[in-house]
Amino acid sequence: MKLYIGVDLGTSSLKLLLMDAEGKILNTVSHDYPLEFPQPGWSQQNPEDWHKALLKGMPELLEGFDASEVAGIGSGGQMHGLVVLDKDDNVIRPAILWNDGRTAKQVDYLNDVIGTAKLSELTANIAFAGFTAPKILWMKENEPENFAKIAKIMLPKDYINYILTGVHACDYSDASGMLLLDVEHKCWSREMLDICGVCECQMPKLFESFECIGTVKPDVAKTLGIPADVKVAAGAGDNAAAAVGTGVVGEGGCNISLGTSGTVFISSKTFGVDSNNALHAFAHADGGYHLMGCMLSAASCNKWLMEDIFGTTDYAAEQAPITEDKLGENHVFFLPYLMGERSPINDTNARGTFIGMTMDASRADLTQAVLEGVAFAIRDSVEVAKSLGIEINTSKVCGGGAKSALWKRIFANVLNAELECLESEQGPGMGGAMLAMVACGEYPDVQSVCDKLVHVASTVKPEPKLVAKYEKRYQQFKQIYPALKAVFPQIQ
Ligand code: XUL
Repeated sequence: MKLYIGVDLGTSSLKLLLMDAEGKILNTVSHDYPLEFPQPGWSQQNPEDWHKALLKGMPELLEGFDASEVAGIGSGGQMHGLVVLDKDDNVIRPAILWNDGRTAKQVDYLNDVIGTAKLSELTANIAFAGFTAPKILWMKENEPENFAKIAKIMLPKDYINYILTGVHACDYSDASGMLLLDVEHKCWSREMLDICGVCECQMPKLFESFECIGTVKPDVAKTLGIPADVKVAAGAGDNAAAAVGTGVVGEGGCNISLGTSGTVFISSKTFGVDSNNALHAFAHADGGYHLMGCMLSAASCNKWLMEDIFGTTDYAAEQAPITEDKLGENHVFFLPYLMGERSPINDTNARGTFIGMTMDASRADLTQAVLEGVAFAIRDSVEVAKSLGIEINTSKVCGGGAKSALWKRIFANVLNAELECLESEQGPGMGGAMLAMVACGEYPDVQSVCDKLVHVASTVKPEPKLVAKYEKRYQQFKQIYPALKAVFPQIQ
């Protein structure tokens, strides 16, 4: 029997998953690595840590299984991170991650001087601080000696694929988030490369996510304990990979991911752009396209409150006092902008904010405000989709945050949408393994592997009474950020 490995290169850990061709998950392992915040709003990571996690995790994943049966590997990785290698393949500086906000000046240059209309024409998107192109410009301006050394530019999961195969490759879904790709025509934009002062020779070769970029190098295969003919799929950005893992492919599917970031992902067979560029217009891992809204801190807001502020890991105990009667009644609100915010407000200066406390406000009210604040902020992106004529009445839901029944119930009522929970929810890693199956010819295309392996287990339905209560609360929430917007830059 053939086996497939899915790699989820996340922001806090690398997760590996071993799956058979029928979709049975045989094993999973996870290894954490540090995330550095060297200055407020900066976020970086050492690519070597990802490599070490892979070396550690792979033998653990395969222990007790016949490694000679491994046929393919596919990754879903944190998007947008800038990884730069010199001519000898050394990593030049720590990777600047998707939630890094240091590039405000470069974003302003791109959006105001080059102009959003031009950027949108070239790439289907405008500049956001986390995107890769502003980071290249930041390096050029602030670290010219490092910039001069760049031989290869790549995204996080492509660094893992490069280690595995020696092939400098990227897939269209992940490349879309660089602001260097002509998303509609699926090729590098020469003009954007010029604007950033880089050339196509430094860029990876482009593939569809389900294409094979090469096989694992013999020495690497030996170290990892897998056969040397294992095929490596191009893989995808983590959101596109998660969408494959939840079966959101083809026309009109929706997936909400509640991980470190929070995303609304709307799949489409055809290319389309949000005329206000509040939603990203990216390629999908199934060969089509998608629109996506991304908030920078989702489940990470809850983790921050629980672990860093309350000093507990017992999330369920903190949520227990949030009883039926409290839903829709909380007068404490939370703006979840702990890392600034991307969609739809695009404001690196925005900050996390509790507002509305009175003397009787409790610890549980703050917990509830965080869960609700994240749901309201996702609704902000859903509202943009609605304004484009996209109705979201049903959505898949995945990610760490989706483990909380309470949080899913809040989401279903804030969004007035049915949320479908999957039999086996393994996020980007499962999507990565499924892409590897297509790359190895196990399934003819991404739609077929989804049809076969993805099954809905349960549905969380909106409740009309709560929908009405949350509608009122959302209208209140919506007024808070505009009222504070001008204050945020002054309190940095
Ligand atoms: C998407 C984004 C995040 C990261 C998280 O645009 O920046 O969802 O991919 O890993």
